[in-house]
Amino acid sequence: MTVKIAPSILSADFARLADAVAEAEAAGADWIHVDVMDGHFVPNITIGVPVVAALRRVTRLPLDVHLMIEQPDRYVDAFVDAGADWLTVHQEASVHMHRTVERIRQLGAKPGVSINPATPWSALSEILPYVDMILVMSVNPGFGGQTFIPTSTRKIADLRRELDEHGLWPIELEVDGGISARTAGEVVAAGATVLVAGAAVFNKAGSVAENIRSLRAAAE
Ligand code: DX5
Ligand code: ZN
Repeated sequence: MTVKIAPSILSADFARLADAVAEAEAAGADWIHVDVMDGHFVPNITIGVPVVAALRRVTRLPLDVHLMIEQPDRYVDAFVDAGADWLTVHQEASVHMHRTVERIRQLGAKPGVSINPATPWSALSEILPYVDMILVMSVNPGFGGQTFIPTSTRKIADLRRELDEHGLWPIELEVDGGISARTAGEVVAAGATVLVAGAAVFNKAGSVAENIRSLRAAAE
């Protein structure tokens, strides 16, 4: 199976977002990952609905929107309306996760659920059959450019086994945080199917194209 690469625009130049997305698209990125932070669920504030709508106008790539916000139910309609193709909410932030996930699907987007590093994979066991994607955070969410937490690899392997055992293999297994040419190989070997990368694509020396190419080489 080919691994998908989802550059995170969190590390791009916000004054030139359209250029950053165009460069990533031309370099063969599969999705564009958009990190929404509210200053409550995570200690940082980034971007919201209008930026997703603006990105929708400049790319055909699927927009993979990662909500690191409290009470995500209040905003899922607006983000799908703005053009999110994939909409991921945090297990730790949604009290009625089944309702949240069903609402995202009803709106026509693909629902994902994410877990923080300290949340066990088993917290997802009941929701797995209802989602299109699991997002394993391999850093504590809030900032780009952090160091990969090594125990994330075991968590991905545990989830891969669980998905395969229950015939849920079409569910995407995305990993986010500290992914680079150094860590991509082990998470793909453990069963990840989508790699998010911010700093390794936009903040590294070298062009976006070279950086995406070396990530892909490491993943394969
Ligand atoms: C972190 C975000 C990530 C972040 C990853 O809270 O969810 O998507 O942009 O950045 P890197 O790849 O730099 O760790
Ligand atoms: Zn993210």
